[in-house]
Amino acid sequence: MMFSKIHLQNFRNYENEMIQFFPGTNILIGDNGQGKTNIIEGIYYLLTGKSYRVHREQELLRWNQSEFHLYGEFLINQHKVSLESHYKDKKKMVKINQVSCQRLSDFVGTINVIFFSPDDLVMIKGGPAERRRFLDLHIAQMRPGHVAILNAYNKAIHQKNALLKSFSERNYKYSQIQIWNNQIVELGRKIILNRFDLTKRLQDAAEPIYANLSSNKEKLQIVYNSLGKRSVEEAINEFPELMNDKLEQEIERQMILIGPHRDDLQILLNNRPGRLYASQGQQRSLVLSLKLAELELIRQEKGEYPLLLLDDVLSELDRFRRDYLTRFIESSSIQTLITMTNADKHLELGTLYIVEQGHIRRDR
Ligand SMILES: Nc1ncnc2c1ncn2[C@@H]1O[C@H](COP(=O)(O)OP(=O)(O)OP(=O)(O)O)[C@@H](O)[C@H]1O
Ligand SMILES: [Mg+2]
Repeated sequence: MMFSKIHLQNFRNYENEMIQFFPGTNILIGDNGQGKTNIIEGIYYLLTGKSYRVHREQELLRWNQSEFHLYGEFLINQHKVSLESHYKDKKKMVKINQVSCQRLSDFVGTINVIFFSPDDLVMIKGGPAERRRFLDLHIAQMRPGHVAILNAYNKAIHQKNALLKSFSERNYKYSQIQIWNNQIVELGRKIILNRFDLTKRLQDAAEPIYANLSSNKEKLQIVYNSLGKRSVEEAINEFPELMNDKLEQEIERQMILIGPHRDDLQILLNNRPGRLYASQGQQRSLVLSLKLAELELIRQEKGEYPLLLLDDVLSELDRFRRDYLTRFIESSSIQTLITMTNADKHLELGTLYIVEQGHIRRDR
């Protein structure tokens, strides 16, 4: 797969800009506030239907405009594939090869993408929701059905919560809660299985990478913890019983207290939580290892590497980790888009673009 072209119209600070990309490394250089992150965001949005920065499309619109349009071209097995995303009057429209597509989820996963920025440190520093999101985003790219399961699960816990809020005053019956519990268990088990499975495969891929990054001195380990259990069998088998045990407490506190929406992925360094004990540099190595492991997993499953988007990452890494990452990219010939400011030019190889006030021109 090769990403060959993007056309941005009224997206963020781009009025009407077309850029051609090449295999290998594509470097976008520019001062602060010129539009480097905005291109990366546009590409990510085109491929996933979501921005990683904001929840509302409204903020992606160029100021005082009412519609934006993104158009991308890809080469898949020598065939040109086009993808369009059009936002107008608060509605999203997606086209693949000029044909309207009802749901982007039908497309997500055709062209895989991995995005990496300094904000990814929240995977370590942030709460469990960040780590669940990391797992779910990866699973969604590999198994498109995962998003539908997550949506249905969230709807079920929302309904159960609503029931719990007025349970005593309205004289609801236990059997009404049981209906939701059954759904939550059925959908929740699928989510739990997917997340355990991914954790194991990520662990296998990330452990040797981290060992390399730390010159075999330190050990990364990731452990998925579901319903307070570390074993997938226990979590799956005991889910209904654990849920029943919580019922009285749930009615009393008027909220759902157990389920995979409260699970956590522990990221451990030498058997201790990275969040509490790892240094800044070690935390960056943990995230870098997990991101590179993600790339490997996609290659194993899809037979080729995904498109890699690196926003501002190199300036955050020390020389050793930077060299490790650039060697990885160059030796595997992953198509990569990297942004950096003039101040931290590191890469010698690749196609170079200058980004200036919402305009981009090729320089090398
Ligand atoms: N909706 C929008 N419409 C128009 N301009 C916008 C919009 N959203 C952001 N901008 C502007 O786009 C400019 C470029 O932002 P961007 O985040 O891409 O910069 P950058 O080149 O990545 O800078 P840095 O090196 O600081 O990360 C900013 O000046 C910002 O004010
Ligand atoms: Mg930026």
